[in-house]
Amino acid sequence: MRLDEVNSIIGRKVVVKVPATSANLGPGFDTLGMALSYYDELEVEAVDAHDSIVEVIGEGQGDVPTGDDNLVVKSIAFTFAHFRQPMPGLRLKAHNYIPHGRGMGSSGAAVVAGIMAAKGLLDGLVEMSSGDLLEMATELEGHPDNVAPALFGGLTIAWQDENGPKHKKLFVHRGVSPLVLVPKNKMSTELARSLQPQSVPHDDAVFNVSRSALLIAALTQSPELLLAATEDRLHQSYRAAAMPETDAVITALRQAGHAAVVSGAGPSVLVLASDPAQRLAAAKLAAEKFPLWQPLMLAVDFKGATVITYRK
Ligand code: HSE
Repeated sequence: MRLDEVNSIIGRKVVVKVPATSANLGPGFDTLGMALSYYDELEVEAVDAHDSIVEVIGEGQGDVPTGDDNLVVKSIAFTFAHFRQPMPGLRLKAHNYIPHGRGMGSSGAAVVAGIMAAKGLLDGLVEMSSGDLLEMATELEGHPDNVAPALFGGLTIAWQDENGPKHKKLFVHRGVSPLVLVPKNKMSTELARSLQPQSVPHDDAVFNVSRSALLIAALTQSPELLLAATEDRLHQSYRAAAMPETDAVITALRQAGHAAVVSGAGPSVLVLASDPAQRLAAAKLAAEKFPLWQPLMLAVDFKGATVITYRK
């Protein structure tokens, strides 16, 4: 039976599209995330072979592994194993646009791309709920704040209980206008996480509870509150010494009234402008003071990851 199952998907092709994400959004450390209109695209074919071969085009080309140790392939294999399905050989073409190591969710996108590719390849054979997708993606990524918006789109609140990770998707006020400023240098999430203290002062915890509650109101109803709502005392100051230019960009923008935060673990900066005119003003200020940083004016992606299956 196992062999029949492999044979039944040989020749199937899937095309997956996964959005970039920005996690934390200031005070919502390991909890809040937003999907952005900037995408990686993946083509996968199940073939009658024992191995997997990846062609990488764009970000990571010549850099990331192209065999079974590729993160997308590992994520596909993980999903097949999770549902006790025999793994076919794979031929992948990864069109990578999301910058690597910049805090825009590229590793979460790779994990989600693999899971969605497996979902597409196993279409009609295995049912995967949204809970299954989030559980697998969180296990592979380590925390749910990037993978939840990459999977489901929009603004997501992610949390874990004794039954695993959960999420709530929210729609964002139409005025909210994201700007991502991307530097040339990278930052390792592992290093950033190692700079976090084990415990924080109670006052700081209360400070972040207030700001992250306010942030949900600001992003969904009252964008004029975004500057106050994006203040943080849980992570950014602890990591600032490892990315001093990021700190300088955020300070300059916030002093001018813009809601700038570290995007994910950095070093990119996310500005959550309350309308397109404010975003343009922030982009102009950044271009004057930090001309080497690449500005990306993006929309909030409301769809999340998509997959199309082509049967042989
Ligand atoms: N919440 C995570 C962090 C996002 O800041 O470490 C990066 O993966």
